[in-house]
Amino acid sequence: MNQKLLTGALAAMAFLLPSTAMGQTADFNIIPQPQQVVTDASAPFVLDANTVISIQTNSQDMKRNANMLASYIQQATGIRPAINKQAKGGTIIVLSINNNISNAEGYTLDTGAKQIRIAGASAAGVFYGIQTLRKSLPLCNGKAAQVSIPAVHIADAPRFAYRGTHLDVSRHFVTADSIRQFIDMLALHNINRFHWHLTDDQGWRIEIKKYPLLTKIGAKRAQTVVGHIGYDAEKYDGKPYDGFYTQQQIRDIVKYAADRYITIVPEIDLPGHMQAALAAYPELGCTGGPYKVWQKWGISDDVLCAGNDKVMTFIDNVLKEVTQLFPSKYIHVGGDECPKVRWKECPKCQARIKALHLEAKDGHSAEERLQSYVITHASNYLKSLGRNTIGWDEILEGGLAEGATVMSWRGEAGGIAAAKQNHDVVMTPNSYLYFDYYQSLDKANEPLAIGGYLPLQRVYSYEPMPKELTADEARHIIGVQANIWTEYMPTFKHMQYMALPRVAALSEVQWTQPQLKDYNDFTNRLISLTNLYDRLGYNYAKHLYNVNISIDSDTKWREIVVHMTTAGDAEIRYTLDGSQPTASSTLYTGAIHLQKSAKIRATAFRNGKSSQVSSQDIVFNKATACPIKLLQPTHKSYTYNGGVTLTDGLVGDKGFGTGRWLGFSGNDLEAVIDLKKPTDVSSVSLNTCVEKGSWIFDARNIEVSVSTDGIAFTTVANKALPALEKNSADGINTYELNFSQTKARYIKVHATSEHSIPDWHAGKGKPGFLFVDEISVK
Ligand code: ACM
Ligand code: ZN
Repeated sequence: MNQKLLTGALAAMAFLLPSTAMGQTADFNIIPQPQQVVTDASAPFVLDANTVISIQTNSQDMKRNANMLASYIQQATGIRPAINKQAKGGTIIVLSINNNISNAEGYTLDTGAKQIRIAGASAAGVFYGIQTLRKSLPLCNGKAAQVSIPAVHIADAPRFAYRGTHLDVSRHFVTADSIRQFIDMLALHNINRFHWHLTDDQGWRIEIKKYPLLTKIGAKRAQTVVGHIGYDAEKYDGKPYDGFYTQQQIRDIVKYAADRYITIVPEIDLPGHMQAALAAYPELGCTGGPYKVWQKWGISDDVLCAGNDKVMTFIDNVLKEVTQLFPSKYIHVGGDECPKVRWKECPKCQARIKALHLEAKDGHSAEERLQSYVITHASNYLKSLGRNTIGWDEILEGGLAEGATVMSWRGEAGGIAAAKQNHDVVMTPNSYLYFDYYQSLDKANEPLAIGGYLPLQRVYSYEPMPKELTADEARHIIGVQANIWTEYMPTFKHMQYMALPRVAALSEVQWTQPQLKDYNDFTNRLISLTNLYDRLGYNYAKHLYNVNISIDSDTKWREIVVHMTTAGDAEIRYTLDGSQPTASSTLYTGAIHLQKSAKIRATAFRNGKSSQVSSQDIVFNKATACPIKLLQPTHKSYTYNGGVTLTDGLVGDKGFGTGRWLGFSGNDLEAVIDLKKPTDVSSVSLNTCVEKGSWIFDARNIEVSVSTDGIAFTTVANKALPALEKNSADGINTYELNFSQTKARYIKVHATSEHSIPDWHAGKGKPGFLFVDEISVK
């Protein structure tokens, strides 16, 4: 296994193959990267109208596999091979089971002049071999007389047994037809678990026969909040919204998924995220309601009453119907984000705490232990039905239910703690795998998202095995999953855009052994996969095709060094004067060294077509690319390139999280810039970025001092700033401090942060963040 890849040799061979044009030769540059691909130069297999598919094991699974392969081949080439027909001298694709393959989902794929043999440890393994062959085929607009498939030996098996993707259909509903498309999309990426988040505060989406009002009332909300909830009055769209799946629709979808070797893990999120259920059955809440299906995003304080026996019966009855619909070994019971405010006030909940002696213990509050009681109840019930419980990492709080599997979403800490307690773990950290986060920093040109920033490369870089675990503990990391929360995804097309191509990066984290992962190589292979996305009509983000512009400060030579990359090493053309690049603009051949301001515009060219234009404006002043020293530390999450971030020619714009702003908390910006020679100076300016909802305040004082030796400083300007008011504007503020012209080599800038947040704010008395960028010296 893990033999060195021979993809380079394969690409070279494509030129040598006789009789077929380049575009009609298969390659094996696919995603996820198989564990072993060995090509040789012997005669290729020729796929044409005489090719047939033969199945050696005549099971329903294998017949279905054969039919899917025939459809995939037809989709790419227009040729539909017959199944189990006499070969009549033509070529044959043979599908078989090989019990000697140890990984249950493993397969081998061998091609020769007359045969392609796909052998799987199971029908699922055969299916993954079929996916590999399918993704290797050239897309011939569905029209090819023949396709040449080079000789190859592939031996492949997944790294992780649980390879999941989650979809929230509560915040926005996804129709049954679109769910099938979603499942097809998962299958294309060798994903074998679909975590279906079916219930939440904003809508109950699964028919439960015993509680018809769950869908009759709980599936409908009167209207939906518009945009992000901030300090301003909330706006609503005034449009009723509803949708749910009948049990028959669910049975059909479960079968559709199983036919693609995907197990659906259903989630009933409890005891929090239950407001839609409470709207239907208010007696299940602590206060008795009335409740509405929630119309805004966030975490509702109204949760199931943990002191009411009727709630336990409700949980059992719902889970019983869920298990009748979903054969999955794992049933997800949520457990996340359950506020305890109602329980603290509720006589029934407090009586339960007393009766069961759930007082605070071992660092767990009484209410956390009450939550553990509810999850343990659900878990015991599921166990009695022969199922296992899985829950979000909050189920650790108050003590883990016996045998429960933990989904680590608030980073990896919960997963690490659970593995150390000998519980199984699925890693799904929001720091890498939350596909509701932005995938570009250019937020002005992105659809509104919840926040964050998880570009393709960061998703790809995720390593699910924490270093903190011993080999024995690491065995509990059974898999990896990405989550798609749909608050800000009103349509399925939009959801696809957020999912793709990040699901492709996810699939390689889940499937491919880490030593075979290579981001550059991945982006080259991704180009073929996105061609298939186009053919399948999938909507996906295309940032990959644009030019990625990154910059470094060279403080020795006082230069800004500009680097450009794009997928597949396509040709890059650029301008420095802000004009639109054309096919005859300067060709990028290596780093560009700038000593003056520039408006960089760059485009990648592929087959004569240009990508979107990437832009980066570099603004020089007397401090640009000068050495800079920070006298107080930045916040660790907002350090980026350190001090030079303030003098790199990139002026902070848009939000605070773009990488252009340095963030301080409890400390001040206190920086010394070395202009490298005595220089006439008369003005210093800097920008602050205010976002009160994120605890980001303005500076309270700005002081500029100068020095000729870097030791003795003289204050030349000082500006005091008032504390922010509740209605002070958010946004970017520029402060320019002017003073009589003086000669100085060193400039010290001290911007004092808000050390005590005003009383009107939730963070009152705590330090506020200060975000600053680009110091300009004139
Ligand atoms: C979650 O994101 N609340 C699991
Ligand atoms: Zn209660």
